[in-house]
Amino acid sequence: MTDVLILGGTGWLSGRIARSWADAGADVTCLARGSRPAPEGAALVVADRDAPEAYAALTDRDWDEVVDVSSNPVHVAAAVDALGTRAAHWTYVSSVSAYARADVEGQDESAELLAPAAAGEEPDYGRDKVAAEKAVRDALADRAAVIRPGLIVGPGDPTDRFGYWVSRFALAGDGPVLVPETGALAGDDPVLVPYTADARAQVIDVDDVAAFVVHIGRERWSGTANAVGDVHALADVLDLARQIAGHSGAAVAASDQFLVDHDVAHWAGPRSLPLWLPGDMPGFMTHRNAIFRAAGGTLRPLRETLERTLADERARGLDRERRAGLVRSDELALLAELARPTGLAGPDRPDRAQR
Ligand SMILES: NC(=O)c1ccc[n+]([C@@H]2O[C@H](COP(=O)([O-])OP(=O)(O)OC[C@H]3O[C@@H](n4cnc5c(N)ncnc54)[C@H](OP(=O)(O)O)[C@@H]3O)[C@@H](O)[C@H]2O)c1
Repeated sequence: MTDVLILGGTGWLSGRIARSWADAGADVTCLARGSRPAPEGAALVVADRDAPEAYAALTDRDWDEVVDVSSNPVHVAAAVDALGTRAAHWTYVSSVSAYARADVEGQDESAELLAPAAAGEEPDYGRDKVAAEKAVRDALADRAAVIRPGLIVGPGDPTDRFGYWVSRFALAGDGPVLVPETGALAGDDPVLVPYTADARAQVIDVDDVAAFVVHIGRERWSGTANAVGDVHALADVLDLARQIAGHSGAAVAASDQFLVDHDVAHWAGPRSLPLWLPGDMPGFMTHRNAIFRAAGGTLRPLRETLERTLADERARGLDRERRAGLVRSDELALLAELARPTGLAGPDRPDRAQR
């Protein structure tokens, strides 16, 4: 039996990794504070990684595989210190946020990284990931795999980002949906505002990441791999989401300036248009995945991910409160503003000047 330890294992990705390992027949142990249960078939050791003896219950045995998803470099270094000599192989889940540049397209794993976070600094997600990667590599060397996922999507996504689009198209039905101009669709569909732009979208299904982690753990693969999907035009992703949702209303494009002027946020969070990026980040969704594929990573079709995301969105409620996107009433108000003859965005707009 393969003995697998997941540091985490009760969160979204780490839970699906734990479940995938259990489905593969491994004896899985998760370590977490116990705010959520471990997946069926996995044991849970309750411990707080802030505590000095956090790993004490785990050091009396050997592990075929340890997986860590933490973004806290102190936790990652302490785990490696306590358990590194007991582990045949170690997989650390980092992020493409470790890269220094978001303006460069097509970066591979050799691209420049951010400076690693130094001890005692304020948390910084990307720099913390770089410091954590270093702790793992320094201690484990050729027993270590580091993966850098891009945007992870699919059923259960707690961030509500990617699911916004398929969910919103389904909720709108034959009503209008607001899309960023850089993601709007060219072509002859009369309900769409024609616009051609080169915004990209690059996503990976959560279960493709989980399967990859299990695969490289089994193979004891060592190295660093971006865990990212293929690069699509954002327009194509939105178009496919629209088709899958059966949306028959208009997809109305707003310019970047209009959205910024109306306090719509990029990327994620409340009052945002998910996946819409600032213009100075053209490389953020264009990382290379050749190493991922060569190491045995596989990607399901985007259509399948969108379909299962929509099923999950329907189960969770299309009109539920979300962590990302526009609430429908705000979206309709923005669409009305956009449709006003004088409603064009810009600093000289009369109603803005009067404010
Ligand atoms: N979402 C994306 O698009 C994306 C993109 C790139 C990379 N990533 C990376 O993917 C990973 C996401 O993993 P996830 O979804 O499993 O994260 P998560 O939902 O935040 O889960 C974190 C896990 O760690 C445990 N944990 C947190 N603090 C702890 C502590 N002090 N002591 C012990 N256990 C603790 C949590 O359980 P308790 O809270 O019960 O302790 C949970 O099991 C992260 O590495 C993230 O950086 C995500």
